[in-house]
Amino acid sequence: MQRFPSAVEVAGLRRPELPVACLRPHAATRAAEFFVDRFPGTSLYAVKANPDPVILDALYVGGIRAFDVASLNEVMLIGERFPSARMAFMHPVKSRHAIRRAYFDYGVRDFSLDCAAELDKILEATDNARDLGLFVRVAVDNSDAMLSLSRKFGVDGLEAVDLLRAVRHRAARLGICFHVGSQSMHPQAWVRALQRVHQLILRAGVVADVIDVGGGFPARYPGLEPPPLTAYFEAIERMWAEELPITYTCDLWAEPGRALVAESASILTRVELRKGDALYLNEGTYGALFDAGGPGFVYPARRIRVDRPDEPTGLMPFRLYGPTCDSIDAMAGPFWLPQDTDDGDYIEFDMLGAYGMALRTGFNGFMTEAPAIIEDEPALTQYVARERPAAAAVRLIGS
Ligand SMILES: Cc1ncc(COP(=O)(O)O)c(C=O)c1O
Repeated sequence: MQRFPSAVEVAGLRRPELPVACLRPHAATRAAEFFVDRFPGTSLYAVKANPDPVILDALYVGGIRAFDVASLNEVMLIGERFPSARMAFMHPVKSRHAIRRAYFDYGVRDFSLDCAAELDKILEATDNARDLGLFVRVAVDNSDAMLSLSRKFGVDGLEAVDLLRAVRHRAARLGICFHVGSQSMHPQAWVRALQRVHQLILRAGVVADVIDVGGGFPARYPGLEPPPLTAYFEAIERMWAEELPITYTCDLWAEPGRALVAESASILTRVELRKGDALYLNEGTYGALFDAGGPGFVYPARRIRVDRPDEPTGLMPFRLYGPTCDSIDAMAGPFWLPQDTDDGDYIEFDMLGAYGMALRTGFNGFMTEAPAIIEDEPALTQYVARERPAAAAVRLIGS
C-alpha cells in the first residue's frame, strides 16, 4: 500500500476520481497501547468497528491479543491472521453452523446469549461441550450514548435471574456482559450498569467468572467532547474495587471498538457540484459518511485544493449530499469549510476509522479507490504516544 505524509499529497499526486480511505495505523497502535496500559482488565477489540487488516495488525502491534467477533467471517479473519489470539463470539444470536465452525475449527470457547433458546442452540451445536464460557447479555440503560444499542438485545429482571442460573449449570465459566451504547458520553453509564449486574448476581445467587463491560468508550468529534478515557477506567475500577466485593475473583473484560480505531482513518472525497450552501460529494451516507446522515455526526473537515491557488477565505457552514440518487444520502452538518469551496476541490473528513470504513457499500455503483497509508496525526486525539526510541517506530506485521 502506498504511503504519503498526509491526505494533501494523496490528493496532489493521485488526483483521485473516487474517494480514498487514508489509514493511520500508528494511531490505532497508540490507542491499543493506551487500553493495554490503562484499562484495568483485558481489552477485546470489537472487530466490527474496522476489520481492515492494516488496522488489525496495528492493534496487534499495540498489544491487543483478544477479539470480540460477531460473525463467522470475523472468526475466520482473526483465526487465520492471529492464530494464538483469543476470540469471544459476542453476538447474542448466531447460526448453528457459525457456532459449530467457531468451536470446532477455530477454538472459540466464549459465546454470548440472552435467552434460553440460544443457550440450547450453543449446547447442541457444540455437542454439549463442557469447556464453554457463556456470557449472559443483560439489558442496561443506554441513555448516555449517542447510538443506543438497547432495543435489540439484552435480558433483565426475573428472566435474567432464571437465565443466569440455567447458564451457571451448563457453563465452565459464567460471564455477564452488557453494552451501554456506542459513544457513551458519561462514565456514570458503567456505574449504573455494574450496579444492575451486581443486583442480578445477588438475586440469582450465582458466582460469575467474568464481567464484560462491553464497548461504548467514546472518541472525540467536533461538538462531542467526552471526559478523558481515564475517567471511564477509574469509574469502572472504583466500582470493581469498592462496591462489588463479590467480584473479587472475577475477570474484567471490555470490548472497545470505536475508541480504539476512530482516529485511525480519514476519507478523501471530492466536490462534484456546489448549489448555494450545498456541496454534492463523491462520498455519502452509503459510504464512509453513514453516521453523518441519520445519527448526525459531524467530522473534522478540511479542504484540499490542488489545481488552483488556495487563497485564504473565511469559513461558512455547508450541507452535504452524497453521490447516490437516494434523498436520505444527505448530511445536515453543518460542516465549516472555506467560503469559496467548489467543484473539483477535495475534502478530507477525519475520525472515520470506526464504523466509517466498515459501513461503505457500493450502492449505485459508487466505489472507492485503493486505500493509502498516511503518516500525519488525526485532527482530534485523546491519546498521547508512549515514550519510545525513534528507531523503534511502529512496524506493521508483514511489512
Ligand atoms: C457486542 C458488542 N461489543 C462491542 C461493540 C463495540 O462498541 P463501541 O464501538 O461502541 O466500542 C459493539 C458495537 O456494536 C457490540 O455490539
